[in-house]
Amino acid sequence: MADLAYAFSKRHLLGIEGLNRLDIEDLLNLGDRYVELNRRRVKRADILAGRTLLNLFFDNSTRTQSSFEIAGRRLGADVVTMQVATSSVKKGETLVDTAITLNAMKPDLLVIRHASSGAVKLLSRKVDCGVINAGDGSHEHPTQALLDALTIRRRLGDIGGLRVAICGDVLHSRVARSNVALLNILGAEVRLIAPRTLTPPGAAGWGASLFTDMRKGLEGCDVVMMLRLQQERMDGAYLPSAREFFHFYGLDDEKLACAKPGALIMHPGPMNRGVEIESGVADHKDRSLITEQVEMGVAIRMAVLERLAAAAPVTEPAP
Ligand code: NCD
Repeated sequence: MADLAYAFSKRHLLGIEGLNRLDIEDLLNLGDRYVELNRRRVKRADILAGRTLLNLFFDNSTRTQSSFEIAGRRLGADVVTMQVATSSVKKGETLVDTAITLNAMKPDLLVIRHASSGAVKLLSRKVDCGVINAGDGSHEHPTQALLDALTIRRRLGDIGGLRVAICGDVLHSRVARSNVALLNILGAEVRLIAPRTLTPPGAAGWGASLFTDMRKGLEGCDVVMMLRLQQERMDGAYLPSAREFFHFYGLDDEKLACAKPGALIMHPGPMNRGVEIESGVADHKDRSLITEQVEMGVAIRMAVLERLAAAAPVTEPAP
C-alpha cells in the first residue's frame, strides 16, 4: 500500500517525540487501510516478503509481542522472536554485544522492548536496520499511542479539540508519556489525573493539565484512558493500598458520570480489574474501546513496519 502522498522518511520509531503531525496522520491513514485488510478472511499483503523482522523482548509482554508477530507475518516477513529468558543476555553478554551479534544476522527490522528508558535508542545506534521501540522503561511506547489515536479517530473523527483524561499510575507509564506527546501534536486537550506520589516530577512541563481529584479531572472529558497500576515497578510506599487507590482513582460508574455523557473508556492492558477499573466499566458494551484497541494494535504495527521497511537502507551491494 504505497500510493499515499506523504513520504514517511524516519529510519527508526523510537518515540512519538521526533514525529510531526504529517508522520502521525500518514501512519493512521495507512493503519485504517490495514484494519480493512485484517477484517477479510485472507489477511495477507506481501510487502515484507523476503525481509526479516526480529522481535527482541527483554521485558515481559503478551499483547505487544504477539501483535508485532502477527503484523509481521501478515505482511509476509520472516518473523523471529527472541526469548530473553534463554538468551545470552542472561549469560552476561552486554546489551551492545547482543545488538552487534543480531545485526550480523542482517535483520531488516528490529522490535525491542527493554526495562530501561533509553536502552532502545542505544541499541538503534549499533545496528544497521530500522528499530521500533516496543516500550523502554517508563519512557516511550509509540505504537501504543498510535493505536490509541487510531481507535479514538475511528470512533470520534478528528482528535483536535477533544478532551482526553489519562488516569492512574502516570509515574511509571510509558503509555502516558507517548500519548500526551501524540495527543498534543494532534491538538487534543490532555489531562493527567493521578495521586501526587504517582505524578512524575516533570509532568507540569508535558503539555497536559494536572489533577489529583479524579472527579474534577474527568469533567467534560470525551475519552477516559486508564493506566495499569504498575506494582512491579514500585519499590517504595507509593500507595496505602490497592483498595484505597480504587476508592480515589478506580474508574467506576459513579466517577465516569463526571465525564461527558457517553465518554469512551480505554485501557492499554493488561488490566487489574477492581484496582484501576471496575469490571463492568471495562466491559461496557458501547463505551469501552479496550478490545478495539487490541485490534487497532495489529493494524498500526503493520503500518509502522511497512513505512520503516521502505525507509530501511538496502544492504545488498548494487549490481
Ligand atoms: C503497556 C506497557 O507495557 O507499557 N502495555 C502494553 O503494551 N499493552 C502498559 C502496561 O504494562 O501497563
